[in-house]
Amino acid sequence: MKKVRTLPQAVGSGALVALLAAVALSAPPVLADEAPVEKDAATLEFERFRAEMEEFGPSGLWEDKGEQLWKTARGPKNVALADKCDLGLGPGVVSGAYVQMPRYFPDADKVMDAERRIVWCMVNLQGFKEEEITKKPFAKEGQDTPEQTSLVTYVAGQSRDLKIAVPQKHPKEIAAYKIGKEITGYRAGPYDFSCLSCHGEVGKRIRMQNLPNIATPEGALQSFQGWPGYRMTGGVMLTQQWRMNDCFRQQRFPQPKYISDSITALLTYLTANANGQVYKGPGIKR
Ligand code: HEC
Repeated sequence: MKKVRTLPQAVGSGALVALLAAVALSAPPVLADEAPVEKDAATLEFERFRAEMEEFGPSGLWEDKGEQLWKTARGPKNVALADKCDLGLGPGVVSGAYVQMPRYFPDADKVMDAERRIVWCMVNLQGFKEEEITKKPFAKEGQDTPEQTSLVTYVAGQSRDLKIAVPQKHPKEIAAYKIGKEITGYRAGPYDFSCLSCHGEVGKRIRMQNLPNIATPEGALQSFQGWPGYRMTGGVMLTQQWRMNDCFRQQRFPQPKYISDSITALLTYLTANANGQVYKGPGIKR
């Protein structure tokens, strides 16, 4: 990995404004401006709409589907994840598991986030082929939701109203956090963007969207809250893995490999920064 520059030395806010202005001229999809920290009318309106939608609870559909998938014996080995899959708290235990991942799993000798772990169980316990699962990792409009998305949504729902408590004990968990932190500040690509170019200040926006400052506990919570989320654009259920992929695209980086070490590291950093705060369960995103 190239040298990682920290935000203050690499991007003074003047330089950032110039950078973003240059991008605005050359690449119409990305337009950013500073916004006051107070929420504007559009944001408040959206939040009200989201609260109403959340009461109606579209993610419940995928939680139900995921629960069935979790409890049914399936795959070439005819195994139920509910009997065998250990999400960190013992085989089959789902309550509280989502808010304690990513974590280190001795059987795989890897740190894994929820989605990666669920795919690991599908492959290693049920006998599904990883190539088949990774072919269509994310939901698309008009297509069936990938099974692992429903499973993640079910598992996440079983941590509703619980405190985020990502472990930072095992050396590999600590290493994942550090690597994740480095990735957020790693600048490259045609616009020399890092995550922090867009997510390193409070009150930054692109078009209508408020961008969380992922280096703060509030921003870190926003990165976790509401995922997996029902995306109103397209009407599909999407996971944090998808969000990360889409932000690599925002950053004009190559698409990362599905369920890779680097995405787990990024999620370890983002989620551990939100430790101690309460997760409200699967939600709704624009
Ligand atoms: C070019 C700007 C840009 C870059 C660079 C970028 N993002 Fe994003 N990010 C966005 C936009 C736009 C959204 C969508 C906001 C929305 O829909 O409300 C977003 C959303 C997110 C969210 C979800 C926030 C929420 O409310 O749920 C997270 C987490 C996130 N980005 C993390 C990252 C990480 C980690 C990186 C670096 C790998 C990164 N982003 C790089 C623009 C960017």
